[in-house]
Amino acid sequence: MNALPGFRDFYPEQLAIRRHIFGRWREVARRYGFREYDGPPLEPLELFTQKSGAEIVGQLFNFVDKGDRAVALRPEMTPTLARMVGAHHRDYKKPLKWFAIPQLFRYEKQQRGRLREHFQFNADIIGESDVAADIELIALAIDSLRALGLKQDDFVVRVSDRRAWQRHFAAAGITDDKQYAAFQAIDKMEREPLEKTREKLAALTTKVDEVLAFPKDDLRNVLDQIGDLAAFCEVDFKIVRGLAYYTGIVWEIHDRKGELRAIAGGGRYDNLLKLVSGVDLPALGFGMGDVVLGELLKERGLLPKENHGLDCYLVIADEGLRPTALKLAHDLRDAGIAVDYALTMTKVGKQFQAASHSGARYAVTIGPEEWAAGEVKLKDLAAGKEERVRIAELKGKIS
Ligand code: HAM
Repeated sequence: MNALPGFRDFYPEQLAIRRHIFGRWREVARRYGFREYDGPPLEPLELFTQKSGAEIVGQLFNFVDKGDRAVALRPEMTPTLARMVGAHHRDYKKPLKWFAIPQLFRYEKQQRGRLREHFQFNADIIGESDVAADIELIALAIDSLRALGLKQDDFVVRVSDRRAWQRHFAAAGITDDKQYAAFQAIDKMEREPLEKTREKLAALTTKVDEVLAFPKDDLRNVLDQIGDLAAFCEVDFKIVRGLAYYTGIVWEIHDRKGELRAIAGGGRYDNLLKLVSGVDLPALGFGMGDVVLGELLKERGLLPKENHGLDCYLVIADEGLRPTALKLAHDLRDAGIAVDYALTMTKVGKQFQAASHSGARYAVTIGPEEWAAGEVKLKDLAAGKEERVRIAELKGKIS
């Protein structure tokens, strides 16, 4: 039986890639002073139906549980974060800088870069309305991609502002209740024929051409504040974001060539906490998925070779020494050294093959003659050099 469509099996090779990406995300978040949190993967359905907007609601994995509750697997982290912060914000000094790496579930049409589950690096700042917080998050997103080896010519941060669009919509006679539909039309523009966008806008206003002329606001002052990293950014009003709750600066990161779906997206959502929890705090953040990012890293040859993480492989040259070898293995493992060995009687040649296949740094041969002299043979598998070492000195040599 196969996994469900859009769900991944993580064999050790794939899990190694996932761990590599998560490791860099965590490391950069730490450098920026963010603390890690998590929430439940299953939430009341209502949390998403009211806050995220119709598009994501159409993609929910939802059901009624055995206690008759309407529930949904989380399609995004932001409503959960808003709920959590709303409930306990008094316990924390503002601004909060928090991050999480949740697995999220969306019943999407499967296509390149879009699956039905993905992991998403979420970083959010709560309780700060200054644009310095927007800049901090953009810088964090850029640096997390740089930490994975991506460079300025690999990706671009496309920055926009929903407030500029709101003024622009109002000038074109689009009333507040139709703004969500208008944002949706603009959000889909790059992936649909222009005719379709025109049709959608025509249902909202007679001034379609005016809307399509885009806002003329100047956002350079925002980019100026980001210093050297401004070279990674562009003002681009085609970005408005698909989710309903954004209220200010919004941005997405795309591969420079524009071949893949978005790598990351985020922005300010100053009204969401109040909607979810009644607590009025400004907030902003972004989500960066592992799927498109993984594809880009693979294309650029930036995925690390898998490292098994094994330090040494014990070669048992005489089956009579197996109990001794096992004791040695245990000793080394107690000292934090990663050790493996053949579980059943195996020819020495085969054991050496297994040793090099395992990627271990060393093979340690336990033979009767050496053992009687209080020694083992230690072979550096990369260099191909072998030496005899005192058993008492083995730990020090390997670690
Ligand atoms: P989003 O734009 O829906 O934003 O998702 C952010 C990123 O997650 C996307 O750019 C993409 O890399 C990845 N992603 C989304 N859906 C899928 C999918 N079906 N398959 C693979 N990857 C996917 C949010 O979710 C916001 N809650 C982000 C945010 C945090 N805003 C403020 N704070």
